[in-house]
Amino acid sequence: MTVIKPVFHHVTIKTSHLAEMVTWYEKVIGARVQFRDANNAWTTNDAANHRVAFLSTPALSDDPDKARHNGMHHCAFEYASFSDLISSYERLVGEGITPSFCLDHGLTISFYYKDPEGNFVELQSDNFGDWAKSSEFMRTSADFAANPIGYFFDPAKVAVAHRAGVAFKAIQQAIRANDYAPAVPPDLGIAM
Ligand SMILES: [Fe+2]
Repeated sequence: MTVIKPVFHHVTIKTSHLAEMVTWYEKVIGARVQFRDANNAWTTNDAANHRVAFLSTPALSDDPDKARHNGMHHCAFEYASFSDLISSYERLVGEGITPSFCLDHGLTISFYYKDPEGNFVELQSDNFGDWAKSSEFMRTSADFAANPIGYFFDPAKVAVAHRAGVAFKAIQQAIRANDYAPAVPPDLGIAM
């Protein structure tokens, strides 16, 4: 039987910190509120009616042991270019928002930010600039099969290299040679 495939549309987050969460998503992904009441908000950052929504009730509470509990680890947003990703990283540094960890996954360069309740948001750009090519890479690359998580890097070092005019391919090679490795191993928010 043919599956009529629906298009992925939005995520909805339970929260005890509605105002703080809305403000954070406004800053990080350019979300704007479509509708809001005392307990809930629906936001979007594109033409869709909503993309990220928030529900709060008095019975909700934070999970101090989130890393050890099952559930969603992150959602991701993609920029059209590596340059847009880096300039957004720099803009957010100016807002006091820095990534928890950064990875070259082979298919994408990815910056992972923790929202005020410990949910990760991945900001990424496609390393091939082409979903067909990065999909092919995932399916067929021996490098990816050997290391599907990828290579950690220090975003400040990569941003400096990009601003100095180092070509993307050279930056990627340096990341994969661990030339921009972070000083301390990052916290991925998953119990091991
Ligand atoms: Fe991801």
